[in-house]
Amino acid sequence: MTDRPDLPVNPVFAALDTPDLDQALTWADALRGHVGGVKAGLEFFSANGADGVRRIVDLGLPLFLDLKFHDIPNTVAGAVRAVADLGAAIVNVHAAGGPAMLAAAREAAEQSGGASRPLVVAVTVLTSLDDADLTAVGQAVPARDSVVRLAKLAQSEGLDGVVCSPAEITAIRAACGNDFKLIVPGIRPNWAASGDQKRITTPTQARDDGADILIIGRPITGTEEVGAAASRIASDLGINR
Ligand code: C5P
Repeated sequence: MTDRPDLPVNPVFAALDTPDLDQALTWADALRGHVGGVKAGLEFFSANGADGVRRIVDLGLPLFLDLKFHDIPNTVAGAVRAVADLGAAIVNVHAAGGPAMLAAAREAAEQSGGASRPLVVAVTVLTSLDDADLTAVGQAVPARDSVVRLAKLAQSEGLDGVVCSPAEITAIRAACGNDFKLIVPGIRPNWAASGDQKRITTPTQARDDGADILIIGRPITGTEEVGAAASRIASDLGINR
């Protein structure tokens, strides 16, 4: 089994939310030295595939490949091996895929080559779903109870952490302890527009509440000078470089 990688000192991962490879590369290049890593998701991957991922990884920034796998265990294991081989530092799956799928994802990451395996984290309940949506798809409510139950399930199957909203940090930290990684979007510096994010918190507050990685998109990529915006967030967090 390969070792779990250490997290970067700078907890900020910038979300490269674009299908445009040149745009993503321009952002990532300008962000080197100002963020701990970058995140690319389904929008980027669907447009640019494995080659696009390799181009980002080649820039040398840790990459969270946010593809939220959810399928039968054998298929998810194959997908995790494939993205681990591309050099992703963090990959994710839906906790609702169940214990066998979670265990298969973890085992696949452990079998992957390279100096260190990717972190494997779970999505619990999508923050776009409210209790009425969960009732509509036959899932238990309230959402908060499902979030904690799914986080504990992910932890018991050996996953490294979960993606959660700022509002969920305290409950998951209490249930899963200090070693479980919490990756948190919905972050807004107090000098940035909130956009469509409803329940937001500042980078400092999220870090102080117990977040390990802060996913920040538009406050960085919506500016002309992405490096300067990321640098301002780093200095808000007291990170000097
Ligand atoms: O631009 P913004 O900072 O809102 O981007 C946040 C990023 O985190 C986006 O990539 C978004 O898809 C992702 N995300 C989120 N809320 C979640 C899960 C992921 O905003 N619950």
